[in-house]
Amino acid sequence: MKETSIRIQHLNVVYGGHTALKDVCLTMPHRQITAIIGASGCGKTTLLRSINRLIEFTEGVRVSGEIWVDGQNIFSAGVDVTSLRKRIGLISQKPSPLPMSVFDNVAYGPRIHGMRDKRALDHVVRSCLETAGLWDEVRDRLHTSATQLSVGQQQRLCLARSLAVQPEVLLCDEPTSALDPVSSQNIESKLLELKKDYTIIIVTHNIQQAMRLADHVVHLYLGEVVEQGSASEVFQKPGDDRTRAYINGNAPSEFRVDAEINLKGKDCPLNFVMAKTALEDLETGQVLKVLIDYPRAITEMPRGMEADGQNVLRVRQLNKTDWEVIIQKQ
Ligand SMILES: Nc1ncnc2c1ncn2[C@@H]1O[C@H](COP(=O)(O)OP(=O)(O)O)[C@@H](O)[C@H]1O
Ligand SMILES: [Mg+2]
Repeated sequence: MKETSIRIQHLNVVYGGHTALKDVCLTMPHRQITAIIGASGCGKTTLLRSINRLIEFTEGVRVSGEIWVDGQNIFSAGVDVTSLRKRIGLISQKPSPLPMSVFDNVAYGPRIHGMRDKRALDHVVRSCLETAGLWDEVRDRLHTSATQLSVGQQQRLCLARSLAVQPEVLLCDEPTSALDPVSSQNIESKLLELKKDYTIIIVTHNIQQAMRLADHVVHLYLGEVVEQGSASEVFQKPGDDRTRAYINGNAPSEFRVDAEINLKGKDCPLNFVMAKTALEDLETGQVLKVLIDYPRAITEMPRGMEADGQNVLRVRQLNKTDWEVIIQKQ
């Protein structure tokens, strides 16, 4: 395996008129775990999606700057994006197995890259499932649908699927946020084992998780890097007040709110329908602030939004009657 580490220089990402990353300069060490921490909306996902150039699928996005992976600027002319994405796997927040069997999920990438031999495929599938810690649980049902697995198993399957194309870098976007504690622990221990072979970048807003996993830490704040360094340095003596506040759990929780809607005086379910309509005008990742004062809505609105697959970032009482619900569109 080649020596890969990532160096980012003056990266700017602008969605429409909205700057999501501003002059980001970073290094991510070879075969270590780098944790990217920071409040919701600070640009963590944007940063990961830039590293494997998935960001380019977003309409109206402008990207400038340089990302060096293994001595090559991934934005330079002549870079083969397909092989770049093969080298840099992405595991997202919600496991998204393909609607096919467990076996075919893992064999999918190798097949696309030309592997046809049945025995070779059997071998890759087994070894990746073993590495992801899933083999014993699925060996007897390799040919059943992946969607029948539990969410925790699905996330390990996604990990196996990423490993199957022999990447050098693993990008993990809040990989345990949809999982129960035992499944989360499973994933965490796999990541710790995998770092001997892979450069791992994990986005998390769980500080405890970052402390358990990270060798290197980057704190993003409203699209800018405010601190980066070794985990021991950053966690024990952060140099930036905002990092100290974030680590101590009393950050001002700044959100970049993209739209706001006042639903005071509106009862259920009208307020929910109106908030849903307002979300339709936003892009994935954008943030809506909803003001409500209807007592039942305080629990019903967040619950309904989560059932709809949206990300509820915060529910907060503003005064005696008014509440705000902050929702990030998924
Ligand atoms: N497709 C998009 N179009 C417009 N704005 C976006 C888009 N995706 C994300 N954003 C905005 O960019 C900022 C960073 O988003 P994101 O990278 O998803 O943050 P994080 O992962 O830290 O929560 C947010 O303010 C969000 O509203
Ligand atoms: Mg995110």
